[in-house]
Amino acid sequence: MKTRLPHHHPSLHGLRLKPLVLCATLVLACAPTVGAAPASNASAGQIHPAQWPQPSWPLATDPAVERRIAELMATMTVEEKVGQIVQGDIGSITPEDVRRYRLGSILAGGGSDPGGRYNAAPAEWLALADAFWEASMDTSGGGKAIPIIWGIDAMHGQSNVVGATLFPHNVGLGATRNPELLREIARITAAETRTTGMEWTFAPTVAVPQDDRWGRAYEGYSEDPALVASFAGVFVEGLQGKAGAPDFLDDHHVMTTVKHFLGDGGTTSGKDQGDTIVSEAQLRDIHAAGYVPAIAAGAQSVMASFNSFHGEKMHGHKPLLTDVLKDRMNFGGFVVGDWNGHGQVKGCSNTDCAQTFIAGMDMAMAPDSWKGLYESTVKHVKDGSLPMARLDDAVHRILLAKFRMGLFEKPKPSARALGGKFELLGSPEHRAVARQAVRESLVLLKNQHGILPLAPKQRVLVAGDGADNMTKQTGGWTLTWQGDGTRREDFPNADTIWNGMKAQVEAAGGSAELSVTGAYKSKPDVAVVVFGEDPYAEFQGDLPDLMFKGGRSGDLELINKLKAEGIPVVAVFLSGRPLWMNREINAADAFVAAWLPGSEGGGIADVLLRGPEGNVQHDFHGKLSFSWPRRADQYANNVGQADYNPQFAFGHGLTYKDDGNLAALSEEPGIDPNASRTSTWFDRGAATTGLTLRLTAADGEKMDVVHPNVATSDGSITMTAVNTDVQEGARQFTFKGQGTVELRSNMPLDLTRETNGDVFAIADVRIDELPANAKVDYLAGCGEGCGGELPIGPALARLPHGEWARIGVPLKCLRDAGLDSGKVSIPFAFRGGAGLRISLAKVSIGTDYDQKVDCPSP
Ligand code: BGC
Ligand code: BGC
Repeated sequence: MKTRLPHHHPSLHGLRLKPLVLCATLVLACAPTVGAAPASNASAGQIHPAQWPQPSWPLATDPAVERRIAELMATMTVEEKVGQIVQGDIGSITPEDVRRYRLGSILAGGGSDPGGRYNAAPAEWLALADAFWEASMDTSGGGKAIPIIWGIDAMHGQSNVVGATLFPHNVGLGATRNPELLREIARITAAETRTTGMEWTFAPTVAVPQDDRWGRAYEGYSEDPALVASFAGVFVEGLQGKAGAPDFLDDHHVMTTVKHFLGDGGTTSGKDQGDTIVSEAQLRDIHAAGYVPAIAAGAQSVMASFNSFHGEKMHGHKPLLTDVLKDRMNFGGFVVGDWNGHGQVKGCSNTDCAQTFIAGMDMAMAPDSWKGLYESTVKHVKDGSLPMARLDDAVHRILLAKFRMGLFEKPKPSARALGGKFELLGSPEHRAVARQAVRESLVLLKNQHGILPLAPKQRVLVAGDGADNMTKQTGGWTLTWQGDGTRREDFPNADTIWNGMKAQVEAAGGSAELSVTGAYKSKPDVAVVVFGEDPYAEFQGDLPDLMFKGGRSGDLELINKLKAEGIPVVAVFLSGRPLWMNREINAADAFVAAWLPGSEGGGIADVLLRGPEGNVQHDFHGKLSFSWPRRADQYANNVGQADYNPQFAFGHGLTYKDDGNLAALSEEPGIDPNASRTSTWFDRGAATTGLTLRLTAADGEKMDVVHPNVATSDGSITMTAVNTDVQEGARQFTFKGQGTVELRSNMPLDLTRETNGDVFAIADVRIDELPANAKVDYLAGCGEGCGGELPIGPALARLPHGEWARIGVPLKCLRDAGLDSGKVSIPFAFRGGAGLRISLAKVSIGTDYDQKVDCPSP
């Protein structure tokens, strides 16, 4: 049963409630893209396959393999065939399910891990791979033995697994301009992936991000299609081996997924999963550039994209998936879907979508919806609405990939060449290549009076919250989907930037001090301030503009403070994209864009510090692969455009031979810094910009709160300021009667994309008093008569009392309870009653919690 708000519910004050209908996904109108030329005529979305490139597919038809596939398929039931084209996620499927439903593939999404532990041991991954493989080969129930394939986002190394080598994210690799290094990185990633049993990665991303506000910009190598293309083919070869060579797709390699087809980097306003409204020529010449060499290298799969092209979702786009990709571009692998992407096609749901297969999808990614999709698809084949020929083609493509990998002759994953060779994870050889990649990815933007390279034999302060911070250094898609919630000990084979600086400074006889806040014990000769973005993935990283944290990070203040104390400052900026940094660049003596370097923080010291002989150890090599903005509203100014006018152009990057002096840059941001949208709704005891904190008393009185200490006149709610690690960093609410604490947004929030994933409203709370079986409810509102509520009393009761902890409320449960996530007016409210005393420090959107609220069972 779904929890719905009944008629005239007495307690969600301020909302007049009507019976609720499950709200449809809302697609909001988008602002026009700056720089891009949106096509305007009605035929703009039309596709002419004959105008597309024709790479040649490098693998010849093998008659012996074709015979085996034909023999196998002749014996397969419709159910078994459908099993091959539906993929489930390990968070929602067990080996038992595979034994019964004969699914051909599983994946581990960014948030899915053995035992539900993000830091599960490598051996647990491998054991699970064996269990799934054994289930797929078990014929005791009568099914055919068809080896399962496991796909995983080995995005920057085998990045879901503890101890793996973590390479810089693609934005950093783009700056290296070194395709042969990329080949090496891919080869190592394949080997490390094989140790834990998977034979397939969802990489490389060959997106060509055109708007740096996009939360996935860092997954792209460059805004320039030619640069992306120069990497795509070699990366595929590094992962799979060279087509035709004896080691192609052997046990040291993995199958690749080139993604996301097509136009993921071209959506309006850089909105993740948005609409790409460009001409067919732009789609082809910019966004498809990487697919040409990737297909020529024999990439075994291509992932369909979440985005639309002129309003039509790619998961249902036959002209592009079939007519262009397969028929024109000679792609001889299979098309895999993205995370319930088929459910976004018009007329489809996550559990029912013949259209996607008809359009050319060969394997739908149905993480938690696989069973329903399997059942409905079997029905569609049996009643002819999904033609048997299309099903057979999809199955044939998938089996062909399995045969090319020799999987029918292979033992279980742990018994293959690299299975269980965990010493390869983060091995010294692998880490050395990652460290080289870090060195080559660093881009120097300013070096006033040649302050760099630094002599190591001096007093060096390493400051800023990125200095000793593995989470910030590794970014999204690292152990967890968002890359958040990890701890230093989850990275046994890694160095922070501080670790690297300290080691080299001390070895040279200097002294190094770490201080996040810049408060030092002895006055340093120089400070290296490391700061930047917190990790994010996908839509959670979308920005309204290129203002760094809305300009309220405290990092500029830190640089200014040190400078005011007479200390020269070298700024090292960690980010997934260029952001507007003119104030920080002006304030610091040197400025280094370090992107998201991964596990090898030591690569920074290699370049910033001189060697013991005073020599330059390694010069800067990195060249911008994304144009650096002049203002925070310059998010789509890309190389080659007519109005191209960035602060630092594509290809820029100083070396030690260059004059690094820079005149003061304009500090005019071009936007209102306070207008920035935030996914934090309450922080340090106060509603954030654009939200209001309201108390509603038992007698109906409504109070919009400004002062830290208040009480409703009937005394039902008293609010007082309490301390966290900061003074008055939270508010405590004491209930003497029933009342509601609400955060109201001045503008409706669109949380549609967040609701599609496993994203939560996260509250940092401390339970001070909780009566037994207290009834506490979470409420969210979407305008008059629209809302959803969930009981949270049991989850609160599971939290430790008297300590700060995080509770997570799944946005999808709120949606199922009636919230229209496209227009959320009250993102957070809770209703409590007499005896409850609870403190609240922060409310935000995220994935990292201590206890989660359970969805009421349907
Ligand atoms: C992402 C893909 C990823 C998949 C599996 C999706 O949400 O868009 O890039 O491969 O999840 O984790
Ligand atoms: C998964 C990701 C996926 C995302 C899609 C998450 O729960 O872990 O892999 O990309 O959902 O929204």
